[in-house]
Amino acid sequence: MAPAGKIVERSAAFCGRFGLRLPILLAPMAGAHPPALSIAVANAGGLGACGALLMAPADIADWAAEVRAGTNGAFQLNLWIPDPPPQRDSAHEERVRLFLGGWGPPVPPEAGDAVPPDFAQQCEALLAAGPRIVSSIMGLYPPDFVARLKQRGIAWFANVTTVAEARAAEAAGADVIVAQGMEAGGHRGAFDAAMAERQQVGLMALLPAVADAVRVPVVATGGIADGRGVAAALLLGASAVQIGTGFLRCPEARLHPAWADALARTAPEQTMVSRVFSGRPGRSIATDYARAATSPEAPPPAPYPVQRGLTAAMRAAAHREGDLHRMQPWAGQSAALACAEPAGALAQRLWEDARALLSG
Ligand SMILES: Cc1cc2nc3c(=O)[nH]c(=O)nc-3n(C[C@H](O)[C@H](O)[C@H](O)COP(=O)(O)O)c2cc1C
Repeated sequence: MAPAGKIVERSAAFCGRFGLRLPILLAPMAGAHPPALSIAVANAGGLGACGALLMAPADIADWAAEVRAGTNGAFQLNLWIPDPPPQRDSAHEERVRLFLGGWGPPVPPEAGDAVPPDFAQQCEALLAAGPRIVSSIMGLYPPDFVARLKQRGIAWFANVTTVAEARAAEAAGADVIVAQGMEAGGHRGAFDAAMAERQQVGLMALLPAVADAVRVPVVATGGIADGRGVAAALLLGASAVQIGTGFLRCPEARLHPAWADALARTAPEQTMVSRVFSGRPGRSIATDYARAATSPEAPPPAPYPVQRGLTAAMRAAAHREGDLHRMQPWAGQSAALACAEPAGALAQRLWEDARALLSG
């Protein structure tokens, strides 16, 4: 293992390469990425982030313009690599709709037809926005898009959840591997959703294994939310950390207060991975809905993105009514470590605490 000086040097080299002053990356979080949050993190010297999954091309351009108006710092734009279209089963969807009708407004059959924006057009919007970094989750970008990123000098950060995925991402040209431990809040980034639950690896095991398997720098993500986690991740082979849940209580995140407050009282074992919100596995607070929808009596969730469409009305009603138990409150296992403080100060404090631990 490298001595502490070498570890700090490794992260300094990473920061130098990507225009950062802190090895702290805001995680891309679809639906939870106000420009103000990225501006604060980037102005502190970290990396801003946009989870563009649900955004039309014009919204991606607007987001980038707004962040650029507030900071000269770097940011990443992130997309999900789409799965093939789902197999629809109207009889099964009807059972899911009836079940969801007990938790929110009645769900019409066409609710399951909602599809995310067109991926190819989103890719063009990413190139046009020209960020320093483009990142991926759930798979790998097509080779022609990777070539176009490289022509423009845009780095590709690939989120992976296993060693095999890390090797595949490096072979496909990823400049940085983001190793996502099973502690992570939000969706699991497994390339093959069918394997996601069986191949859940904790960051303590994943990180050194990935760092040994690839030559490109590795970023650690999942359950990191204080200086101890940052220092541990660097010791285990990471050059930087990516934090999602840990930033969600910052005022700039403008999270629903019911969700933000709940994070503070959520123990690691009070989160759970399920498919009940979108059809893809993701980690949320173990709410009444999430527990009921995973019980043996409940119909299994429809595939992604059908389930996302079917749950939309319930989630919207819960948001309006401030009812945590029917919201989609994504949360990593370290949720209770998230602090309600300005994001820039938090980013700086995380790095100061980690540095003190590494040099002490
Ligand atoms: C609310 C929320 C939304 C997320 N959306 C995305 C996304 O759009 N793209 C992505 O690559 N990862 C997404 N993630 C996963 C994060 O990038 C990261 O892996 C995770 O937040 C790390 O774990 P932590 O929450 O314990 O810090 C999301 C996470 C959360 C909490």
